Amino acid sequence: MNTEVLCRTSPSLALVKYWGKKSSRKNLPATPSLAVTLGGVQTETRVTIAEKDSIQLDGEAVAIDRFRPLFTALRKAAGRKVHFRAESVNDFPSSAGLASSSSGLAALTVACARVLELDLGPEDLSSLARLGSASAARSLFGGFTLLPAGGTAARQLYGPEYWPQLRIVIALVSHKAKPISSRTAMEATRDTSPYYRAWLRNAAELLDPALEALDKRDIEALGTVARLSYSRMHAALLAASPPLLYWLPATVAVIRECRALREDGLSAWETLDAGPQVKVLCLESEVEAISERLQRLDPALKLIVASVGEGPVCESREL
Ligand code: PMV
Repeated sequence: MNTEVLCRTSPSLALVKYWGKKSSRKNLPATPSLAVTLGGVQTETRVTIAEKDSIQLDGEAVAIDRFRPLFTALRKAAGRKVHFRAESVNDFPSSAGLASSSSGLAALTVACARVLELDLGPEDLSSLARLGSASAARSLFGGFTLLPAGGTAARQLYGPEYWPQLRIVIALVSHKAKPISSRTAMEATRDTSPYYRAWLRNAAELLDPALEALDKRDIEALGTVARLSYSRMHAALLAASPPLLYWLPATVAVIRECRALREDGLSAWETLDAGPQVKVLCLESEVEAISERLQRLDPALKLIVASVGEGPVCESREL
């Protein structure tokens, strides 16, 4: 009898960004990352054992190259030469800089491990998920997570209940898939950006102030560090040859509006990943005012409000 496992996971939004690899082969991050798991947006992945490996994302077949190291490690852990059929859907745009690889690879890892009946703890699963995408190592946990530089697995720093008032307003400025994957862009930054070394040095220095701010639940201090982290990551990208620019005019407009919102006394702290979307860190009591201002700025913006989310949830059924 074949079992189908369904896993739901949430994306991991880095406040201190991972950008660059210590080892490409092992997919080890060169910078530490501190992240929040986003509640209210999710990936749902179904996995069964099959004749050959196949993956569908939002109904379309995707190349499995990227998943090979994970599948190989899973087969090795199980001691069986099995193959997987996976179908994944996101309730948010995929590959558009919304951290879909974090939730996608985490869901895939947990579902495959369950199908194989592997007895693995969260740390082992996090380490396996990292083989597919380093940010996925963090999506294995809810709440606030840390993946150290060179680390094989992420760990949870605080559970989802730690900061119930925190909100992330996601401003979707584009539904299109990003023109260049984070993997390719990371390699180009390392190989061609004269700012890459400075980025690595500085990224490590941003961790302590971010941890301290999180420890105090100080949104202004945390937002200040998060803004430096994404700005410096994108500065290193812009200095690559050819320059890498993910931002769209609407991205810049939202960034500027966040500054205006802060000048008006609201805690609207934006952050960006490898894509044009802007994620705005704020408090629950400010969501309405911030959403209204962003919508007035650009009526075409789609806004999603996320809170601090939970880790993976799975269920199995016999086919
Ligand atoms: O895990 P990847 O390969 O999708 O890279 C994620 C990179 C960023 O989203 C830009 C930063 C991060 O730490 O999530």
